[in-house]
Amino acid sequence: MAHIIGLTGGIASGKSTIASFFKDSGFPVIETDQIAKTILQPGSDAFNAVVKHFGEEILLSEGIINRKALGERIFKDERERDILNQIVHPEVRTITQSKADVLKKEGHAIIVIDVPLLFEAGFDQDVDLTLVISVPKEIQIERLMARDGIEKAYALKKINAQMPLKEKRKRADFVIDNRGSILDTKNQFNELLKALKEA
Ligand SMILES: Nc1ncnc2c1ncn2[C@@H]1O[C@H](COP(=O)(O)OP(=O)(O)OP(=O)(O)O)[C@@H](O)[C@H]1O
Ligand SMILES: [Mg+2]
Repeated sequence: MAHIIGLTGGIASGKSTIASFFKDSGFPVIETDQIAKTILQPGSDAFNAVVKHFGEEILLSEGIINRKALGERIFKDERERDILNQIVHPEVRTITQSKADVLKKEGHAIIVIDVPLLFEAGFDQDVDLTLVISVPKEIQIERLMARDGIEKAYALKKINAQMPLKEKRKRADFVIDNRGSILDTKNQFNELLKALKEA
């Protein structure tokens, strides 16, 4: 039987890093961020709904969505964030499910879905097991600031817009603590693979 694993965590906690470990080990990974980007291509229903709500000022001169500007709008205002999520999430969920079905039919025993808002969006209902990538807040802030070149205040805003990692850890079937070196995290990943193979 196939196991669908919902891979989540906080912003910049290391989801994509662990997703690449799964890929390197030959497991298929569905990236919901990529799906969300795809469905916001110019001309789609989701694109039109975003422009209708957020206005043309959300577009770059080439007519594509200015993701940075959209990000700033939604992290300033929780209601705006909810509206964007309502536009994007249902379609992301449907596309993810159909991709997972195809992979199941192909006979994959383990299928990984990278979903930043797994618990917040109720996506955990669609998966068999949940894996949370966790880091202490101070490290999360540092890595987010370094990766995105943003100020501490904005990094904190983004972090605080999500369910606290402590709460996610409580709900998780498995937790990887990504505070240490990549090698340390890789070792935890290898232990997890062993446990999954036994499950
Ligand atoms: N163990 C680690 N040690 C040092 N740096 C790390 C470690 N794990 C991840 N990073 C770095 O931290 C940043 C965030 O990691 P990653 O992109 O995997 O997080 P993410 O959870 O996928 O982020 P997002 O929420 O934006 O999708 C990256 O720059 C990555 O290279
Ligand atoms: Mg990522």
